Amino acid sequence: MIMSEQQPGPSPINNEPSKLSAPVETLDKASVERRALLVGAVAVTAGAFSTHAAAAPQPPDLSAALAKFRASIPSHFNRDYVENVVVPFYLTSIYEGERPILPMIDLPLTKQDALPYDLWGLIYEDWKPDPTQGVTVFLEGLENRGADNLRKRIYFSGVTPDLYGPKYQAKAVAFFDKLLDPKHTGKPFMRHYLDYYWDIYWDLHLGVKGEAVPPQVRTIGESFNTVLAYRNPMQQIVYDNYMAVRALLPFLKQWIDARLDDISSGRLANPDKTIAYYWLKNAGDGRYFAKKDVVFECFHNFVALSQWGNSIFGVMSRLNENSGDPAVRAAFQKTMSGDFDNAGGGPYTPIELLVMELFRTISPNGGSLSAIRDARTSFYGGSPFAQFGVPYERHAYVNTPHTATSFDARLWHDPQRFDPGRYKGVPTSAEIDEAKCKQIGLPSCPFKMTTLPVSDGRKTGITNSGFGTVFAVADGKSLPVCDYAGFAPFGFGYRRCPGEQLTIDVFSDFLRKIWRDKIVFRALSQPNPGKVPVGPNAVIDDDIGFFR
Ligand code: HEM
Repeated sequence: MIMSEQQPGPSPINNEPSKLSAPVETLDKASVERRALLVGAVAVTAGAFSTHAAAAPQPPDLSAALAKFRASIPSHFNRDYVENVVVPFYLTSIYEGERPILPMIDLPLTKQDALPYDLWGLIYEDWKPDPTQGVTVFLEGLENRGADNLRKRIYFSGVTPDLYGPKYQAKAVAFFDKLLDPKHTGKPFMRHYLDYYWDIYWDLHLGVKGEAVPPQVRTIGESFNTVLAYRNPMQQIVYDNYMAVRALLPFLKQWIDARLDDISSGRLANPDKTIAYYWLKNAGDGRYFAKKDVVFECFHNFVALSQWGNSIFGVMSRLNENSGDPAVRAAFQKTMSGDFDNAGGGPYTPIELLVMELFRTISPNGGSLSAIRDARTSFYGGSPFAQFGVPYERHAYVNTPHTATSFDARLWHDPQRFDPGRYKGVPTSAEIDEAKCKQIGLPSCPFKMTTLPVSDGRKTGITNSGFGTVFAVADGKSLPVCDYAGFAPFGFGYRRCPGEQLTIDVFSDFLRKIWRDKIVFRALSQPNPGKVPVGPNAVIDDDIGFFR
């Protein structure tokens, strides 16, 4: 039955009525302008309203259930929204996958179009995949990425760890200085994190911040994140923000396109301090990273970087003096009291180990999502879809879990313990070579090891482990990641997060700032804390502040 296929979004979806979360009195002028724009944008796209969207012809066994479901859809929702967002949302199934023992996901669980169907309308005007408008590596199957995961390597060229110190770190440090300025002491932290966040987002991608980021661009980003956070399309707040994204998408794409021209023409000062610069320089003949793909990646990263919000919230909650985690607080004190930037010849510095353990335990991203298709024939014979040509086939995905894998007792002796030292005993991506694969019992490496030299003047190559994990070698030195299934927060193998090391570097700077300025976090115990959409599936009570 259709109704039994309903997939309520994973917790914590919040059922608050339509409102953006900050109390009105705390909104600055820019925020108010953004709200006004949002309302206008919805009005523009609302278009034809339908009382109840007309039911498509359905076989009798399903139509009654579908009619009942349709009757529950708010009658003022735009009809296209109902057909392309609400209905697919309820006809989507996400299946729980197995915990991998090796950090790889097999290819039949594909990344091609592995996006819950109801979200396509946020990135494509036609509500469905349209590669002619540009693509993101995030939603491409390995077979469509060029030789040896080429698209991923080009993407990675913009975020390799050798770039962080000279090119990006000053931006992150300035961001945290503003965010943790004494004038914000004792205020709910996450709301103003989100207000400043767009500055670091666009500064890193395109070298633009402050007044130079138009209000439309701030609004679409905030709306995008609000949809991801509240998720359930039946909610008014999701509807308003979804339609706002759609109204503003053409403007955003044109704006990004023009900023890319500023980068390539040299009109932008210090263009090499932007991620997009490296994407443009390393695009090769453009077949696997055309300019429209760069535009696409620049805004598709709304999804990627939105996870910094729930991660920051996770770190703060654990360091919170009132109800934090004593083991995390002790590890923070211990690490920061020592020589935290000295790797001592190992692959990771103590502060990196601490951040890695924070990510394993916070696990801000619940799982790696793959699209699955009906097996047209199996040992049971032809599938019903193949045999009878019935039109019921819907969208199905498998979730390879991160939290359960990171806490898998087959992979760690004491998975529950907060122990930054645990990564010293498991392989790095630089160690997973032919010999290691043989030692594990594989006849050879599942992935061929190749290196793509970058074309932007650096002596950096983008290489991979035998498991397909992409990492950099700069000036002859490997800059590996932990290539072990028990460290799951950034996914697995050829499709693992390229932004992992950038994220670890940024969070290391967050911790350095907290330590240097003797910052502590405390619960504010407000009677009615604001609800803030801090990341995908995460709407939190904004009730922690910082003090010195
Ligand atoms: C808290 C921060 C982040 C977390 C927890 C995170 C997590 C992940 C995970 C789990 C995947 C694998 C998804 C899958 O295989 O289905 C992934 C992929 C990806 N991430 Fe991140 N990410 C973060 C930040 C970033 C940042 C900062 C960037 C870019 C600068 C980024 C760009 C990407 C891209 C492009 C992919 C697709 C990789 C591929 O399919 O080859 N992420 N991320």
